[in-house]
Amino acid sequence: MEEKEFQAKLHKKTEEVTESICTVFHEYLKKQEHMPYVKVVLDGMDYSFMAGGKRLRPLLMRETYRLFAGEEAKETLELQEFMTALEMIHTYSLVHDDLPAMDNDEYRRGKETTWKVYGDGMAVLMGDGLMNSAFELIFSTIQRSVASGKSPEELQRITQCGEMLAVKAGIDGMLGGQVADVEAEKKNLPMDMEKILFIHEKKTAALIETAMGIGATLAGATAMELEKVLQIARRVGIAFQIQDDVLDVIGDSAELGKTVGSDAESGKETYVTLRGLESSRREVEKLSEEAVALLRELPGEHAFLEELILHLIYRKK
Ligand code: IPE
Ligand code: IPE
Ligand code: MG
Ligand code: MG
Ligand code: MG
Repeated sequence: MEEKEFQAKLHKKTEEVTESICTVFHEYLKKQEHMPYVKVVLDGMDYSFMAGGKRLRPLLMRETYRLFAGEEAKETLELQEFMTALEMIHTYSLVHDDLPAMDNDEYRRGKETTWKVYGDGMAVLMGDGLMNSAFELIFSTIQRSVASGKSPEELQRITQCGEMLAVKAGIDGMLGGQVADVEAEKKNLPMDMEKILFIHEKKTAALIETAMGIGATLAGATAMELEKVLQIARRVGIAFQIQDDVLDVIGDSAELGKTVGSDAESGKETYVTLRGLESSRREVEKLSEEAVALLRELPGEHAFLEELILHLIYRKK
């Protein structure tokens, strides 16, 4: 695929995904607006969610869905709701990650961080709000699916996706990874390759696995296909976090939309401090190429997905 063609497709697909998740998100917010005294939390949730971001997780979810359901397959409402819920959970993780008590960052998605605008106590609640609302949304997806008489197999797939979302956002996923990350940094614990891989796998790869795993599951992938998708996503996720550590050193703050040098300022041990820049970059390349090789073993049209994974190696934001 030519670079120009890829960039045009990426732009269009990101716009479509953004339109879908913002619609679902705003419908949800609207239902809460009648309540007194809580407007500020809805404002902050909206501020952080709408600030932008690459929307990579919903994009990966939809592309993986299409890999199994067909390139022209329409987005179902369930798919849209899972894309939205995952982006809400990812956004909550960023809101909390930026807090003074965690990474103490003031700039995110090209704007002031949520705590800078609303104060840190309120930012905690806004993150909580995003997380809780994500699960409210998914429970309503399940309720509607039961009421509308979907087949037992379809219902099983939808609840399996709900479980995947909860587990991989939790202790055995993003939250657990953040725990190991924060503890190591705040207590200055020794870092080694095994621990950093655990952290990358949990804090970042887990939500990428959720994205691709849910896409595959909703589209009816077999258990073996799902297993392969998760192996691909794990590599993409770890590579994504290594590149994030690289960009914290060599990235451009304006282009990234977030503070660079944040890791060094807090004296944090990262993949880059352990291995050096060159070796980190090679690892991103190796993991991404492995992911693409595994992707080629799957049926379906995956030219765009393949290009997307390869482009992430050289991403600057
Ligand atoms: C940032 O994620 C946090 C990491 C897991 C590295 P993204 O780089 O996907 O952030 P947005 O969504 O584009 O803002
Ligand atoms: C955080 O990793 C990943 C999350 C689960 C939020 P970082 O702390 O490196 O993410 P950035 O660099 O602030 O986006
Ligand atoms: Mg962090
Ligand atoms: Mg951070
Ligand atoms: Mg980082």
